[in-house]
Amino acid sequence: MEIINRRQRMSSVARKIRREQDRTIGLVPTMGALHQGHLSLVREARQMCDLVVVSVFVNPAQFGPSEDYERYPRDLTKDTALLTDYNVDYIFAPPVEEIYPRGYSTYVTVEGLSDQLEGASRPGHFRGVATVVTVLLNIIRPDFAFFGQKDAQQALIIKRLVRDLAFDTEILVLSTVREDSGLAISSRNAYLTEQEREAAQVIRRALVKGREAHKGGERSAGKLADIVRSTIEAEPRARIDYVSVTDAETLEKLDKLDERAILIAVAARIGKTRLIDNIVVNIGAKKKDAAKAKA
Ligand code: PAJ
Repeated sequence: MEIINRRQRMSSVARKIRREQDRTIGLVPTMGALHQGHLSLVREARQMCDLVVVSVFVNPAQFGPSEDYERYPRDLTKDTALLTDYNVDYIFAPPVEEIYPRGYSTYVTVEGLSDQLEGASRPGHFRGVATVVTVLLNIIRPDFAFFGQKDAQQALIIKRLVRDLAFDTEILVLSTVREDSGLAISSRNAYLTEQEREAAQVIRRALVKGREAHKGGERSAGKLADIVRSTIEAEPRARIDYVSVTDAETLEKLDKLDERAILIAVAARIGKTRLIDNIVVNIGAKKKDAAKAKA
């Protein structure tokens, strides 16, 4: 395994591999502080691709001025040890000026999908994400890039970005890895106290309640959101930022729920820590309905 810090070295290594060896390259973009969620992406990349690159870069462009850029957990030594165990070929860990050299002034905005949910709460966040992912894809030109469903809106935005700008990379989105308690694993969980970590379980419980209500026949998006909201509100340590029920592909706000797959997404603060999670319900409903219609 080699740790690469320079964008030029990364480009030339990737170019050589593509040209001379005709091998597939998988990229797992991360901000480090690696956990089982990241590692599930690395495992899949390792299985699918000849060569695996993991990028570790805490991207200043996606943090708002009052957000946690400075205190975001960083531990490249620990990350390197983990990635060695997973047989990763290259870690791309550039300093900020390698991604954003002096005079950097080009930003990528995926319109529409970036404005609601996380985009509404964190203005500029997805512009930062889309920009850094564009730079990474251009430096490495991977055949496959791996993202987590934990950040559902981010995954949709990256898919749209890659389609619209004709990147030659296939985007794979893998399911959310959770603790036994149901809490979605996140680097920001490190900020939680023991009691807060317990309180944070309410988010997953609320989402599952929403899914159950839908299964039980609830077809009003508003009522579904209320069920999720009131479950979270029962936990005194939790403060809701948003609960949303949208089309899982377009993020369009829904009123009456039909056969479309729907995304129930939550952002909530537990103490001072802001956590997000989501659940997709009604997956495959269309297919099932089509099968029924045929029968
Ligand atoms: P980061 O938060 O480090 O996450 C890197 C990748 O891991 C993302 O695709 C995220 O969705 C995925 N991930 C995080 N927690 C997960 C979990 N519990 N289960 C499955 N996947 C999980 O997301 C970012 O970094 C950045 O925005 C980035 C894409 C690297 C651009 O800077």
